[in-house]
Amino acid sequence: MLGLKAETDGAWAEAALRDLDRVLADHAHCEMKAASNALSLAARHPDRLGLVRALTDLAREEIDHFQRVLATLEARGVPLGNPPVDEYAAALRNAAAQDARGRKGGLVDRLLVGALIEARSCERFKLLAGALEKAGQRELHAFYTELLAAEARHYREFIDLAVDAADGARDEVLARLDALAEREAEIVRTLARAPERATIHG
Ligand SMILES: [Fe+2]
Ligand SMILES: [Fe+2]
Repeated sequence: MLGLKAETDGAWAEAALRDLDRVLADHAHCEMKAASNALSLAARHPDRLGLVRALTDLAREEIDHFQRVLATLEARGVPLGNPPVDEYAAALRNAAAQDARGRKGGLVDRLLVGALIEARSCERFKLLAGALEKAGQRELHAFYTELLAAEARHYREFIDLAVDAADGARDEVLARLDALAEREAEIVRTLARAPERATIHG
């Protein structure tokens, strides 16, 4: 799905459903991080106005997602809490930085890492939406079904931005995306081996 090279085990959704409050709090933080990453990337590239516009639009949408998850938490009486350590995103950024040593990675890599995080979120939301539907949780099912479509769109937007940042070298960018997707798959398989985890990307 969406260029991902490792499929999440169906057991993930069952674990997520059992620990739904924790997953919702983790999800809220993911949305806030997506917004803040988009803003920090935009702030670092003031010379690229198209990129700044696209990333600030994205940040606005991620803040809207955050506030909607926050409203769900509030309705359920669940505290937001501190952000859990995001091993997944940290490992992915490290892997990209390691590969990029000695060559120009920079902005293109950051955008492609963004694309992969969106793709993985989309995949997980789809699994969660399916589990919620089976459990008769109609409102949350509808919410995650809407969000997974947004994340699929963000995945494509990040790739288009990466191609622009690489001056239109689409084939090169797609080859890099493919290599990063391999690293992402390794990270997901490793995290899946760690027990008692119920996070969006864990
Ligand atoms: Fe989002
Ligand atoms: Fe997103």
